[in-house]
Formats: sequence, structure tokens, C-alpha cells
Amino acid sequence: MNHVLSCKQYTRESLEELYQLTDKIEANPEEYKHSLEDKIIATMFFEPSTRTRLSFESAILRLGAKLISTENAASNSSTRKGEILEDTIKVVQQYADAIVMRHSDDHAAERAVSVANVPILNAGSGKGEHPTQALLDVYTIRKHKASIDGIKVAILGDLKYGRTVHSLLQLVSLYDNVEFYGLSKKAFELPEEYVKMLEEKNIKYTVCHSFDELPKDVDVLYHTRIQSERFEGDFGREEYIINKEILNKFSEGTMVLHPLPRNEEISTDIDDDPRALYFEQAKNGVPVRMSLILKAFEK
Ligand code: CP
Repeated sequence: MNHVLSCKQYTRESLEELYQLTDKIEANPEEYKHSLEDKIIATMFFEPSTRTRLSFESAILRLGAKLISTENAASNSSTRKGEILEDTIKVVQQYADAIVMRHSDDHAAERAVSVANVPILNAGSGKGEHPTQALLDVYTIRKHKASIDGIKVAILGDLKYGRTVHSLLQLVSLYDNVEFYGLSKKAFELPEEYVKMLEEKNIKYTVCHSFDELPKDVDVLYHTRIQSERFEGDFGREEYIINKEILNKFSEGTMVLHPLPRNEEISTDIDDDPRALYFEQAKNGVPVRMSLILKAFEK
């Protein structure tokens, strides 16, 4: 079964295969519009979403598949009546040939896969992972860099609860001679398990305390929103804001990425800078997710 569960399942070769298919889809989308006419795909989002849900649904429709969905599954599905996730999956898989799911439980995707007899596509699981986001993030980097080998990536914002960061680290780590820099408030530093993962792979990770500590020629500034829905209390506002003045400290080749939605961490005054690629990144969600759906049905 071709689930999309975690970035742990990818190799450099499988990523390249996925991206070559994505390139083909982007070059000739018409060729794929009848690919899955015999399939019904369900989307179940137990947490809010704009990009992931709508880009998955767009991808499903652009492949000719049919879509069934629950709007706001946490409150409008029978979860609200006490149904456990495993039971929901056992039922929905009788109505759909694949299930795209977002959930607040870090282990929701594994739980779904443990009972599933159709492909499960993890659209974000708690503070754990968001593999399809990282797949489109790396696709965006690949489009703009001659090579991903040797790149320097700065991760900023909420490195603790930000699931997109956890997934991104795993994918970029598949490439040679990469380096990471972390810039966040103390309360949002990268969890030890990811620091250890980088150590075990002999990948350099430098904790920074100001923009001035980041290399001027950093290839990617990957900012993230403080995930205030994941913790109690108030840790204050983001300290490290990318605005025109800050971005101008970096080179012409520095890309600014963000999984979105943004709060105050990226000022709108850089939106027209050619290095600000977060809206293009969101656009890449459709072809990358079309590839993932096609691969989910590959024998
Ligand atoms: N990047 C992302 O997951 O956005 P949504 O929450 O809008 O899906």
C-alpha cells in the first residue's frame, strides 16, 4: 500500500522520481486529467486548513477523480459523537479509494494506516510531521537551485511545534553536505530528537541568536508561525521578523520560504522581492500532490 505517512519513508531516489513526475505534470497537465476517473478520494481534515486541503482537492479534481469530504471533521463528523479515528477510517475506506487526512494527534497517520486497506495521505499530524508540505518545499528549492547538495538552510520561528520543519529537516538531510542553522526564541527551539537525528547523520546544526549569526549567503530562510494552538500560555510575539531591512542583509540567491499561513514573522513589505517565494511554494502544492496521489495508486 502506497501511504504517505512520514518523510522517513523517502530516499533521494524516490524523491527524484516523484519530482520528475511533478515536472511532467507541470509541463503537460492535460495529459493527466483523466488519470483517476474511476477513483473516489476522501478528504478528512480534523484541524483547520486552507492550502493543504484545497490544493489536495484541486489535485484530486485535476486528475479526474471524484471527491468526498467532511467540512471541519472535528466538529461535523461522527468524531463529535465519540467515534475513534480507527473506526472512522474502517468506515470511510468503504466509500473511498484513498483518504487524505489531517489530525491533531501526532500519531494519527500511523493509527489510520494500522487499520487501512486504502492509501492514507498524511496532510499533517499534530506537532509531528507534515510530509506533503516538506515534499513541496523541497520541490520549490529544487526549482530554484542548481543543486540541493551543499545548501545552507536556516529554520526560523517555531521549531518545537512546527511540524513542517520536522519533515523538512528529514528530506533535506537526504542530500550531501547540507547545513542547518536554527533561529528561534528559547521556548521554540528544535526538539532534541531532531538535533540528535542531525548529529547521527553528521549534519552540522548551529543554534543562532540573531540574524547576524546566519551566513549572508544562506540558501534558504525557512520561517514558520508560532503554533499557538499547540500549547497553553503565552510566550509572546515572534522576535525574528524578516522585513526589507533584514532581507537586504542576505545575498541575491537567498530564498525566503514559509509554509503559510504567516503571522507577523514575514513582513508584507518583502512580498514583491524576487527572493520571497512563499506564494509560489503554495502553488507548487497542486502538482506535487497530484504526483503523490498518482503514486498512491501505483501497483
Ligand atoms: N501549509 C499549510 O499546511 O497550510 P494550511 O494549514 O492552510 O493547510
